[in-house]
Amino acid sequence: MRTNIDDGNTMTQPTAAQAAESRRSVRQYEPAPIPEADLRELLRLAGRAPSAFNAQPWRFVVVQDDTLRAELSAAAYGQQQIVRAPATIVMYSDMASALDRMPESMHPDMPQDKRDAGVASFRATFAGQSDDQREAWGNAQSNIALGYLLLLAETLGYATSPMLGFESEKVKAVLGLPAHVRIPALVSIGYAAEEGFRPHRLPAESLVEFR
Ligand SMILES: Cc1cc2nc3c(=O)[nH]c(=O)nc-3n(C[C@H](O)[C@H](O)[C@H](O)COP(=O)(O)O)c2cc1C
Repeated sequence: MRTNIDDGNTMTQPTAAQAAESRRSVRQYEPAPIPEADLRELLRLAGRAPSAFNAQPWRFVVVQDDTLRAELSAAAYGQQQIVRAPATIVMYSDMASALDRMPESMHPDMPQDKRDAGVASFRATFAGQSDDQREAWGNAQSNIALGYLLLLAETLGYATSPMLGFESEKVKAVLGLPAHVRIPALVSIGYAAEEGFRPHRLPAESLVEFR
């Protein structure tokens, strides 16, 4: 990672609180690629996000290829951060896969009969639902991993640009994703070549009440 470790063993990685204060969307990037090991570690850590039933319906495609990035940008109304950043992560929710893999998702420390019951309960919950209904649920879970990803990238020294401005069907066509999946966000990532706007938020006091 770029900024988290200096030349000795001293860790300079920001805390989650510091990263929450400093993170902002960046739309101009240095062309330098991100080491693949960093991307793998970032996505491993993003996958530590919790999800209901521990279903983990999020999936990630890391797009670095020049042609694919240009095609993704076209599918995202020409948003230029996708071609400027060395990588764009296409997140998607795949509940068909999550349903298949539920036995793996059950905690190994649970007794087998409890694990079997958990799998059955999870599958029964979604049995009568359409793909759209399932993926709406999967999309909500995947947004938890999206939040983790954005904050973790900041702690690891990378800038990000999350995007919902894209045409899902076109993104799916570019990457050959299954028709049923839902895409919660594209996230361009790289080394910042601009500061971005300083974070601006509604005052927390206006959003919080204690009773
Ligand atoms: C899910 C999501 C979708 C977004 N979609 C876009 C987008 O399509 N294009 C864009 O330029 N910014 C997009 N943004 C960036 C937001 O405008 C930005 O996060 C917000 O204004 C707060 O600014 P900050 O990220 O710099 O703190 C998106 C952000 C999120 C979290």
